Amino acid sequence: MAEARERTFIMVKPDGVQRGLVGKIIKRFESKGFKLVALKFTWPSEELLKKHYADLATKPFFPGLVKYMSSGPVVPMVWEGLNVVKTGRVMLGATNPADSAPGTIRGDLCIQVGRNIIHGSDSVESAKKEIGLWFTEKEVINWKPANEGWVYED
Ligand code: RTP
Ligand code: MG
Repeated sequence: MAEARERTFIMVKPDGVQRGLVGKIIKRFESKGFKLVALKFTWPSEELLKKHYADLATKPFFPGLVKYMSSGPVVPMVWEGLNVVKTGRVMLGATNPADSAPGTIRGDLCIQVGRNIIHGSDSVESAKKEIGLWFTEKEVINWKPANEGWVYED
């Protein structure tokens, strides 16, 4: 299934790591049927985060955002699957947890926009840019999970 090769960049933010939510977050994507193709544990530099959030550089919250995101280790990941960019955003819930529906990751696990525990790419284009920023080509693994034939029709 060629469409199932779409990829998104998902990252557990420093508050998600400090609060011990890494396993719970990975479980949601894994149980859904998406395929993990890259993952690392890293303490990101301000330089990398400024590139990652370049589109938000003029926003008043930008300095605080970079400070928050560089305050500890994070878990960047790449997930693959049919419509994974859009569905991933739905699974995350609205940016501000006050507006995130119950049942979503942010709706269930956090309270404030400045501590919203997880990042997800907003388009296929930005996913490509973000994956390239956080991972080398070799770190993204092509593999076929044993259950693939049971997740997709054909
Ligand atoms: P993300 O990139 O982290 O997945 O979040 P998003 O697309 O839903 O939201 P975006 O507009 O890209 O904002 C990136 C992150 O900046 C923080 N933020 N703070 N104080 C504020 O008003 C405010 N607005 C955004 C959040 O951590 C948001 O996830
Ligand atoms: Mg965003």
